[in-house]
Amino acid sequence: MSRIVTLDEFIIKRQNDFQYATGELTGLLRDIGVAAKIINREVNKAGLLNILGAAKSENASGDTVQKLDLYANDKLIDCLKNSGECCGIASEENEHFIPIKEIEGKKAKYVVVFDPLDGSSNIDVNVSVGTIFGIFRRKSDLSKPCEMKDFLQKGSELVASGYVLYGTSTLLVYTTGRGVNGFTLDPTIGEFCLSHPDIKIPNRGNYYSVNQGYYLKFDIEMRRYIDHCCDENLRLRYIGSMVSDVHRILFQGGIFLYPNTRKFPQGKLRLLYECNPLAFIVEQAGGKAMSCQLERILDLPLGDLHQRMSIAIGSPDMLDEMKEFVERYKVPEYKEEVVEKEGAS
Ligand code: AHG
Ligand code: MN
Ligand code: MN
Repeated sequence: MSRIVTLDEFIIKRQNDFQYATGELTGLLRDIGVAAKIINREVNKAGLLNILGAAKSENASGDTVQKLDLYANDKLIDCLKNSGECCGIASEENEHFIPIKEIEGKKAKYVVVFDPLDGSSNIDVNVSVGTIFGIFRRKSDLSKPCEMKDFLQKGSELVASGYVLYGTSTLLVYTTGRGVNGFTLDPTIGEFCLSHPDIKIPNRGNYYSVNQGYYLKFDIEMRRYIDHCCDENLRLRYIGSMVSDVHRILFQGGIFLYPNTRKFPQGKLRLLYECNPLAFIVEQAGGKAMSCQLERILDLPLGDLHQRMSIAIGSPDMLDEMKEFVERYKVPEYKEEVVEKEGAS
């Protein structure tokens, strides 16, 4: 039997892959791994602890916040505050970014963005949820507190991203821009162990994933593409937790869609800590991610921390096909023509 490789060992071995191989990013990834283990412990015993249910508050995006959302948020913030490698945090659960003070005069170079618990409406019914994270190198002056510009970086500037899936087993998947690797938590030794090296997404697959209940609220071109998925007898799978749905697509091939709707004209999912980290992973695995207006997700500029975006993500051939449908069926934007009256100056 081949020897087990733990997440910590793997990260250290891969340290030289990083452009700035000083061990700081390595430390940060390990700290996120520790937070994931703590969150996992709580997610697994949620039903036992009277911790289920809504916390009776709303987050910056107006969603009902679950108690476990707050627990996961607090644990990640704690781990990152004590890591010494992170100078700021932006989270789905905090309206503003959180600057982190220096530890023992050390000037931290990274900021971390995250969705502490994605798909949290699934918690009360024992269905998979996850944590999504992204890491950027700061842009601002190292000797000063972090600034908004450190967070509002395009996805193409991510130095690392990943997710943790609290499912039938607990899996951590991450990339630093040199492929994608997956680690399963072995509960007997409390370590994430390399279980899925060099993950590659299939060129196409049999699954499509979309909230088909909103079909009539989608633009015509998206409806035509979804009709095509039905015609092709693709299997519809929709968990309602982006991280779980995209995880299936990453491993088995297919396409995940969250188009703009009448309720969410820009799309529902958040660009900074949902779309970008998963787009980086999927691209690194050989897939594609674009908005439903066909822009590459990782190239999109950010206006604010909680900016929403439509998304199509998954197998490359299926994304190309979706693009063709959008181009073919898109209704041209109506522009009022200004007709100058003859003789007018
Ligand atoms: P979160 O739990 O972090 O607020 O995210 C929920 C998101 C995402 O995970 C999922 O894909 C989507 O909301 C589901 O939305 P609908 O219920 O509108 O389909
Ligand atoms: Mn989410
Ligand atoms: Mn969330």
